[in-house]
Order: sequence, then structure tokens, then C-alpha cells
Amino acid sequence: MITGKPLLSVEQIQKKVAELALRISRDYQDRELVAVCILKGAFMFFSDIVKRIEVPLKVDFLLVSSYVKTSSSGEIKVMCNMREDIAGKDVLLIEDIADTGLTLQHLKDQLFMQNPASVRICALLNKQARRKVDVGLDYIGFDIPDEYVVGYGLDYEGRFRNLPYIAICKEKR
Ligand code: IMP
Ligand code: MG
Repeated sequence: MITGKPLLSVEQIQKKVAELALRISRDYQDRELVAVCILKGAFMFFSDIVKRIEVPLKVDFLLVSSYVKTSSSGEIKVMCNMREDIAGKDVLLIEDIADTGLTLQHLKDQLFMQNPASVRICALLNKQARRKVDVGLDYIGFDIPDEYVVGYGLDYEGRFRNLPYIAICKEKR
């Protein structure tokens, strides 16, 4: 059985989203953004944050997968690619969580080949203890301990994405 101990409440998440959106809006004043949602995990965070970003932006989506149960397989598959032409544009990758950092590093390297003006990363959660590559995170919501978390878009074997808060996922025998 899976149980979940709440880690971040709806209120904590929404407050942080507003803070991040304000910083992003200030940093990108007079620019035009391409905000990229890394699916599936970032879908809830993405829709909340873009509503609060006050600069002109376009949205795009990347569907990637790298996880098998609760450990990163290290093999990143892009199942569905972006549509926008990002040459000369400011790209902001929006991710649910940075764990090993392998997914974000891989995506960043791939995007740079299309000559964008810039690529920055905004991750709601950061699990620093498990980092394998030093991918620069420009905006971080919360630093969290080395625990597997679910909710607010994050899943365990495809489930729990619809929880409005974030919980630590524990397998109970
Ligand atoms: P990374 O490549 O190891 O940084 O893994 C990043 C991806 O793994 C994230 O986009 C998440 O989808 C997934 N992931 C990492 N940690 C967790 C977790 O604690 N819960 C749910 N998904 C996670
Ligand atoms: Mg993800």
C-alpha cells in the first residue's frame, strides 16, 4: 500500500508560485518568452505559473520520460517534441523537480542546438542530495529532502498527479 505524508500544502505551493512568477516577470521585462512545460510532471505547476507571469509569452510542451518506479533510469526519451521555433528567443524550461539533473541537462543541451537567445530553468522542487550533473537552476521553488514525492503533477507509476498538494510517498507493507 502507498501512503502519503503531506510535505507542501496548497497554500505553500501557491504562495511560492506567485513569488517565482513575480521574479520571472521582472527578469524578462520587455522580452518575449517561450515557456516550455516538461510533461507530464510539470503540467499543474506550468498552468499555475504562466497565469501569473506578466510578460508576453508563448507556450510549448515537451513530453519526456526517464523514470522507472522511483528511480531515474538515466535514459531520457523525448516522446513528443516542441513546435515553436526558438531561434533567437528566450526559453524558460518549467519542470516539476530536479533530481539527478540528467533530464534537464539533456534538454538544455538539445535546445541550445536550435540557437535560442537564452535558456533558463525554473524547477518547483530541488532534490540536491541526488544531483549527478551540475545543471544550473535559475529559479527554484523549494529545496526538499531525498524522499520520493507525489502530487501537484508528480506521480508514482502514473498515479497521484491529481493531488493538489505534495506528499512524501512511502510504500507500506
Ligand atoms: P532527473 O533527470 O533525475 O533530474 O529526474 C527528473 C524527473 O524525474 C522529473 O521530471 C520527475 O518527473 C521525475 N522525478 C524525480 N524525482 C521524483 C519524485 O520524487 N517524485 C516524482 N517524480 C520524480
Ligand atoms: Mg518531470
